[in-house]
Amino acid sequence: MVYKQLEERHVSRPSINLTTLAKMKASGEKIATITAYDASFAKLVDDAGIEMVLVGDSLGMVIQGHDTTVPVTLNDIIYHCKAVAKGMYRPFLMADMPFMSYTSREQALDNAVRLMQEGGAKIVKLEAGAKQIGIVEFLAGHDIPVCAHLGLRPQSVHKVGGFRIQGREQSAADQMIADARALEAAGADMVLLEQIPSALGKAITQAVHVPVIGIGAGPDVDGQILVLYDVLDITPGHKPRFVRNFMTGVDSPLQALKKYVAAVKDGSYPAPEHCY
Ligand code: KIV
Repeated sequence: MVYKQLEERHVSRPSINLTTLAKMKASGEKIATITAYDASFAKLVDDAGIEMVLVGDSLGMVIQGHDTTVPVTLNDIIYHCKAVAKGMYRPFLMADMPFMSYTSREQALDNAVRLMQEGGAKIVKLEAGAKQIGIVEFLAGHDIPVCAHLGLRPQSVHKVGGFRIQGREQSAADQMIADARALEAAGADMVLLEQIPSALGKAITQAVHVPVIGIGAGPDVDGQILVLYDVLDITPGHKPRFVRNFMTGVDSPLQALKKYVAAVKDGSYPAPEHCY
């Protein structure tokens, strides 16, 4: 077990880590990312060639049936993370820190440790702005890999009054670029951008050195993420503009996931109709 990483140098599908993702950013190869919540889908997304999997608090909406991600608990994420970790081998596993699980440095560290030790996560994601810089710095100071989620931050839905595109005004865009830089300087290993204008997605991707993953953030980021149930057209009702149904024209979830990976890699997703 100690030598697993050394052995993996010789296998055809070594597991993805932060170094792999940094190399992909440097070479311009797009990073295909998706959410998953259970072992069966985790195996499918691994087989499809996905590089990174998020156990997102979106599970509150697509699994638990809530209207928002606010009710999701740390134990919920750990439960699903354990299942996902069992089902896959190659993708890098990210876990969401749910609502109010990172209000202080010590609380954030305790909870991030649980996500890694109990859930099997390799990186934790938190919805971050200027106020979370100290928390990111504290986690990074304890060698916890961190992804900072900027733009639309669904855990703040009740404060901001809905799921709305962010960063449209110049002052908000400038603030987001400054926040991304500050979070990177504090030790964030990755940035995730949700629902912002494409031009801002591009500007932030150029402003930081760490990989930037987008959802509704345009084509000029280092990788794309979508909610699995949107890719497979399972989610009923209204879909955000950036969602594309990859089940169209294929006859299995695996084929749809392979189509998603190919579209991210060749840049055909997101198309202009998926962008702001
Ligand atoms: O919870 C989630 O699935 C997410 C993605 C939408 C990025 O945070």
